[in-house]
Amino acid sequence: MLVTIEGIDGSGKSSLVLSLHTLLSDLSPVFTREPGSTWVGDQVRRAVAEKADPITEALLFAADHAAHLSTLVRPSLERGLLVISDRYSDSRYAYQQETLKGYIDDPLAWLRALHAGWTVCPDLTFLIVLPVDEALSRIKEKQNREHFENHRLLEKVQDQYLALAKSDPSRFVLVDGTKDEGEIAGFVAGVIRDAFGRSRSHRRP
Ligand code: TYD
Repeated sequence: MLVTIEGIDGSGKSSLVLSLHTLLSDLSPVFTREPGSTWVGDQVRRAVAEKADPITEALLFAADHAAHLSTLVRPSLERGLLVISDRYSDSRYAYQQETLKGYIDDPLAWLRALHAGWTVCPDLTFLIVLPVDEALSRIKEKQNREHFENHRLLEKVQDQYLALAKSDPSRFVLVDGTKDEGEIAGFVAGVIRDAFGRSRSHRRP
């Protein structure tokens, strides 16, 4: 089963994932992330740091996704494992839909076409939602802030995320990011545990 965790920068994804390591350890999940830890992921981080043009950047994010699928996601799913990814294709649909405006006529249609036929759709996606001011205040200490981390862009990215969630309510679970970290982690772990249990009982003959 493939679970993804999405949200704007500063939404608390990293702390959530850290807690899930402990709360779900008995299920031995495969924890992963995009951009990934392959050399392709390194090139994505370089493109982001050097503010490459938005189309180059989007294509590199998609290349990283392809490498992620072939090296880790597909092989793990084929073994029946639980895969939990910190960011995945919805990050492209939310962030690049904004960064590509003015460069591509219909960025979402272009991004969907770019992924069509080879991507793997998540079974469950948690979207952490919180006021952009709060998210930014959490990352204000950080050095070398990415160019995505500005108020105007993150407002729009969060709107895109919410629109994606609205269009696919059976996959998305909205999480109130202003709640206590422990409460969020307990809730998310519980939903994943139930869903993974159900998916395993369906697999049994
Ligand atoms: P990352 O270093 O993982 O930051 P975070 O810890 O906030 O997840 O991701 C770098 C940035 O890349 C982050 O601002 C979100 C952005 N991003 C995209 O714009 N598109 C994508 O497809 C992905 C995976 C990330």
